[in-house]
Amino acid sequence: MAGAPVTQADQERHAAVEAALGTLDLDAKARLLAGQDMWSLPGLPEIGLASLVMSDGPIGVRGIRWTADDPSIALPSPTALAACWDPELARRAGRLLAQEARRKGVHVLLAPTVNLHRSPLGGRHFEAYSEDPYLTGEIGTGYVLGVQDGGVGTTVKHFVGNDAETDRFTVDNIIAPRPLRELYLAPFEAIVANAHPWGIMAAYNQVNGSTMTEHRYLQNEVLRGEWGFDGSIVSDWLAARSTTGALLGGLDVAMPGPRTVYGEALAAAVRAGEVEESAVDEAVRHVLRLAARVGILDGAPAAVTRLPAPVDGAALAREVARRSFVLVRNEVRGERPVLPIAPARTGTIALIGAAARDARVLGGGSAVVFPDHIVSPLDGLSAALAGSGLAESDLAAGALTYSIGADPSGELAAADKGFTLSAVCRAEDGRVLGTATVPGGRVQWAGGDLPDGVTHDELHTVELTGHFTPRESGEHTFGTRGLGGFVLTVGGEVLFDGGQEPGTSSDPFEAFFGAPVERARAELTAGERVEISLLHTVYKITDAPIGAVAFSLLHLGPRYDPDELIAEAVEAARTAGTAVVVVATTEAVESEGFDRENLRLPGRQDDLVRAVAAVNPNTVVVVNTGSPVELPWRDDVAAVLLSWFPGQEGGAALADVLLGEAEPGGRLPTTWPAVLADAPVSDTTPADGELHYTEGVFIGYRAWERAGTEPAYPFGHGLGYTDWEYETIAATTTEARVRLRNTGVRGGREVVQIYLAPVADPAQDPDTVERPARWLAGFASAEAAPGETVEVCVPLRRRSFEIWDERSGSWSFVPGSYKVQAAHSVTDRRLSATVDARA
Ligand code: BGC
Repeated sequence: MAGAPVTQADQERHAAVEAALGTLDLDAKARLLAGQDMWSLPGLPEIGLASLVMSDGPIGVRGIRWTADDPSIALPSPTALAACWDPELARRAGRLLAQEARRKGVHVLLAPTVNLHRSPLGGRHFEAYSEDPYLTGEIGTGYVLGVQDGGVGTTVKHFVGNDAETDRFTVDNIIAPRPLRELYLAPFEAIVANAHPWGIMAAYNQVNGSTMTEHRYLQNEVLRGEWGFDGSIVSDWLAARSTTGALLGGLDVAMPGPRTVYGEALAAAVRAGEVEESAVDEAVRHVLRLAARVGILDGAPAAVTRLPAPVDGAALAREVARRSFVLVRNEVRGERPVLPIAPARTGTIALIGAAARDARVLGGGSAVVFPDHIVSPLDGLSAALAGSGLAESDLAAGALTYSIGADPSGELAAADKGFTLSAVCRAEDGRVLGTATVPGGRVQWAGGDLPDGVTHDELHTVELTGHFTPRESGEHTFGTRGLGGFVLTVGGEVLFDGGQEPGTSSDPFEAFFGAPVERARAELTAGERVEISLLHTVYKITDAPIGAVAFSLLHLGPRYDPDELIAEAVEAARTAGTAVVVVATTEAVESEGFDRENLRLPGRQDDLVRAVAAVNPNTVVVVNTGSPVELPWRDDVAAVLLSWFPGQEGGAALADVLLGEAEPGGRLPTTWPAVLADAPVSDTTPADGELHYTEGVFIGYRAWERAGTEPAYPFGHGLGYTDWEYETIAATTTEARVRLRNTGVRGGREVVQIYLAPVADPAQDPDTVERPARWLAGFASAEAAPGETVEVCVPLRRRSFEIWDERSGSWSFVPGSYKVQAAHSVTDRRLSATVDARA
C-alpha cells in the first residue's frame, strides 16, 4: 500500500503527520498547498512546521536568489553526467547537491530532469540525460539516492512528456500507451521503484487530452496507485490551472505563490461543495510527509539523521567533467594517436575559439546557477602547461597561443567580464530602500527574494551603477532585457532613455527569458575604466501571480572582421604542433523556453575548423555544447572531443584529458546525427495544439537501426586512451558475465554495454507488435591495468524481456530466443550469447 509505514521512523513520521493534520483547520490546510512566494511554502507555527524551501536544479543549487550574490558549485550538464554511465558517480553528485542545498537552507531540489531525448531539437536536451529510458532511469536513480542521502528531497521532473519546449504550456502530446510506458514513463517508474523519491514535478504540457497537473490517470492511478509513489507532487512553475481539476487530478502543491489556484480558492471550493475536504487532507498528508522527511516538522524524525561525509565540490565537478568527455575520434598521426598531446614532444599548442576563453559551462533557463569561478580551457591549459615540466624557454616562446578565430555569439549577453556593478533600490519619492551587489548585470528578484528592506509595493526604481573596464578597444554595444523604463549612461553620457512594453508572448517568464534589445554603442579603449549606470523603472504587472523584478544590462564586445579572425587563427595554427579549436553553441541556441531550429554551430565556426585543419594535420576539435550539433568537417580533423557543458571546472578537466593526465571516460548517451535531416524524429512543433508521437517506441538508436541510417556517432560510442579485447561472455536470462582484457599500454576504464536482441522467430504470433532490433538491458564499468583481465557481471531484469501490451493494458513477457550482446557501442558489438527466455 502506498505510503504504508514500514520502519520505526516511518511509523513515527506517520503518527506525527496524522497528529499535525488533525489540528489544522481548512484554511491552514489550503494555505499549505500553495506557494507563499517564488520558492517556498508557508510555515505553520501552530503545528511546529517550518517553511519548506525549494530550488533548481539540476547541475547545482541556485538557492532562493536568482543572482550571482550567492554562488553555487556548477556541475557539468545532465547530458554529461549521463555520458559517464556511472550511477555511483551520479549518487556522489547528488550528495554534493544535498550539501549545497543544506548550506543554502533549501529542503527540496527541483531535479532531476528525466524527460527523454526524443528529438535533437528539444531546447532542454542538455538538461535531460539520454534517448534511452533504462540509462535515464539508472542515472536518475543514482542522483535521487545521492540527494536524499543528504536529507534533501528531490522532485523528479517533468512528469511526463515534456520532451520539447515549443508551446510547452499548452501542447497536447499524443502518446500511445506502449511508447508512454516503455519509453517516457519508464525512467520515472524505475526511479520511484529504486530510489523512492520524496517528490515529483507535474509538467506544463498535456498528455492525451489532459493537462498533466490534472492528470488523474497518470498521477493517481499510475504513479501513486500502480507504482506506490508516496511523496508529494508539485506543479511546474505556474502549471496549475484549475482548483478542483488539479486537486482531483492528484496535484498536491501549486507553485509559485502567492496567487495560485490553491490557498483561498481551494478553501472556497471545499465550502462550495466542489471538492471533499478529505481530498485536501490527502494532499496535506503528502506535503507534511515531505516536510517530516526533510526534518522541518517538529516531533517527526527526519529521514536522514547522519549526513554523508563532506564532498569537495570543485574536485567532484572536475572529476565528473573529465569522466564525461566523449572522445569520438582520435586519428593516428605518425606513430601515435593525436590525443593525448605530449607538448614536450609535439611542441606548441595553438588554442583557438571564443569559448576557449569565455567558456560556456552551463545551459540556459531555470538550470542556470552562478559559480564563484569558472575555469576556461585557456585558464586550464595555461595552468597545466606551466606545471608540465616544459622548459621555461618553451613556455616563454609561446607553448600556448590563443586566438579567437570565430565569435559565435554576435549577441548581447548579460554584462559580465570587466564589469563591477551594484544596485540601489529606491521608492518613488527617491528614498533608498536597500542595496545589493549584482555581479552578472542580471537582476532577477522574484517573490520575496528582494534585497533587505525592499518590498515590491514600495520599489520603484533600481539603479545599477559601477564600472566597466573593456578587454578590447573598439565599438562596444549595450542593451537591456526586461520590461519597464531604462536610462543608460556610459562615461557620463546618457546613451539611451526609453522603455520596454510587454510583447504578445504567452510565456509568463518573458521578462526573465525574453529577447535582448540593443540600446546604444560606444567607442571604448582596452584597459580604460569607464563609469556605467542603468536606471530601471520597475514594470508592475497588475494581477501577476508573483511579484518579480527582472531586467539585465547587456553587453557585446567589438565586432571584428570574421575573415580576419579566421586568418589570425590560421597563422597561429600553421606553426603550432597541435591546434585545439573549441567550438560552442550560445545561450540563444541552447536554453529552456524554446526549441532549436537547426543543429548548426552558430557563426563562422565551421569555416574556422576547416581553415585550421587545412594548415595543421594535428587539429583537435573540442565541441562545447550540451546536445548534438552537426560537425560537417568531422572526418577531416585529427580528433574530436565532446565536452558538453562541462561545469565550473571544465577547463581544468579539459587540460587533464588533452594532456593525458586522465582518460576521457564518456560514452554517448544519445545518438549524434551527421545532419538533422537524418534524425528519425526531429519535429517538435505541434499542429492544432497537438504533437503526435507517431514514431511509437522508435526513438534514438531504436529508430536509427530501423531506418538503417548511419549517424555521425552511434549511441554508446566513446574512445579512451587504451584498447580492450572482449574475451568471453556467459549469459542467462538474469545476468551476463563478460571477461575483457586491457590490451593497451595504460590503465583505463571501459563501459561494457549489454544489449538484448530478439532472434526472429518465423513461428511467432503474427499479431506480435514490432520490437526494436535491440535495446540496452544493462551496463557495467571495468577498470584494468595494461595487460590485465577483468570480469564484469551485469544483472538482467525481467522487464527487459517485456513489452507493454496495449490490449490487456499490462506488461507482457515475450518468450523466445534472445541474443545477449556485449558491446562497446550499439553498433560495435563484440560478443554474443543466446538465451532462451521462458515466462
Ligand atoms: C521549469 C522547471 C523549474 C521551474 C522553477 C520552470 O520553468 O520548467 O524545470 O524547476 O521553472 O524554476
